[in-house]
Amino acid sequence: MQRTLVVLKGDAVQRQLVGQILARFEQRGLKIVGLKMLQVSMDLAKRMYQVHEGKEFHAALLEFVTASPVVAVVLEGNNAISVTRSMMGPTFGPGAPGGTIRGDYGLSQRYNLIHGSDSPESAAGEIPLFFRDDELVDYILLAERWIYARKGQELI
Ligand code: RTP
Ligand code: MG
Repeated sequence: MQRTLVVLKGDAVQRQLVGQILARFEQRGLKIVGLKMLQVSMDLAKRMYQVHEGKEFHAALLEFVTASPVVAVVLEGNNAISVTRSMMGPTFGPGAPGGTIRGDYGLSQRYNLIHGSDSPESAAGEIPLFFRDDELVDYILLAERWIYARKGQELI
């Protein structure tokens, strides 16, 4: 099973869309293994978006993610990274298709509601920025019995 970091950004919190967005991931069958609300510090913002350092929008992005509390989530499931990214949709609302989070809730070229890790390497780097090991919970999700089929030991 793969894990991914999702951050519901300040616009999702301020527009009171946290419940609706989380519900989509739960309905898909992704399992919440970490969840917290926090105020992102400038230091954390810089680490989270280090990959965009030097880009024209970098300063505005840091301002955006530090302007309001956010909700950080770790989701677990088969192909959790690509499934989450496809549910998020393309980066900006105007170009995102209906049925995606950004397409259903966003209209901005900057405020786009949600961050999701884009590769196993990013997830491995980003999850520890937001969660200590003991803040991630191992538990059996009973619904998993019907979310996945079994092929030997494997869940498919
Ligand atoms: P994210 O990293 O947040 O999941 O978003 P993404 O992969 O879809 O997009 P990325 O290219 O990594 O950009 C990171 C975030 O920077 C903000 N942004 N603002 N021109 C702009 O004002 C601009 N360009 C990017 C967005 O919040 C984007 O999600
Ligand atoms: Mg990105």
